[in-house]
Amino acid sequence: MDHLVSASLLTADFGNLHKEVIMINRSEADWLHLDIMDGVFVPNISFGFPVIKAVKKIAAKPLDVHLMIIDPDRFLNMFSEAGANNLTVQYEVCTHLHRTVTEIRNLGMKAGVAINPHTPVSLLKNILPSIDMVLIMTVNPGFGGQFFIKESYSKISELRKMIDSGGYDVLIEVDGGIDTLNAVKLVESGVNVLVAGSSVFSSADPEKTISRLKKLI
Ligand code: DX5
Ligand code: ZN
Repeated sequence: MDHLVSASLLTADFGNLHKEVIMINRSEADWLHLDIMDGVFVPNISFGFPVIKAVKKIAAKPLDVHLMIIDPDRFLNMFSEAGANNLTVQYEVCTHLHRTVTEIRNLGMKAGVAINPHTPVSLLKNILPSIDMVLIMTVNPGFGGQFFIKESYSKISELRKMIDSGGYDVLIEVDGGIDTLNAVKLVESGVNVLVAGSSVFSSADPEKTISRLKKLI
């Protein structure tokens, strides 16, 4: 399959959120990535339900919601109501991960599991049959604009083998430090979804950068 691009709003201009979402609507981005941070799991706080709902009203693309929060089970229903299409939880905070991803699917959303840079992909072996996507964090979560961690390539290849050998219908998404320079190698390594924040919004022409990430040029 062709790879997808999920544009992350984290480094967008929040004073002009409407304009930024309209740009993503117009662009070749496939999804709109929203990072929810609680100041506990990660050392930063981003935004919550009022912002997600406001974005949902104008977004033409599916909302790819990435939760960097402890105890996500408390809020699954509220993310569904706010308009999330994909809901990704961090492996490190889910004691009963199978219950969590089953509930996400029961609420009508695609279920994703994110792993931090130190978390081995081998831990996902028994959850792969029950999820739609794995998000490999390629920076330590919490902030946009960080450098891509190069050790991520071997995790991607290992996960690609696990998914293919098991015949699972699971996408591999990467998030953190993704730009037009590393995108080709990432897709060649087996990535299905590229999340990009600052490489898009810090560029002179964000719409064109999204197009380059999509066309791999
Ligand atoms: C980081 C977030 C990312 C962030 C990526 O914790 O999960 O989605 O927006 O930003 P860039 O592309 O700037 O690394
Ligand atoms: Zn993210």
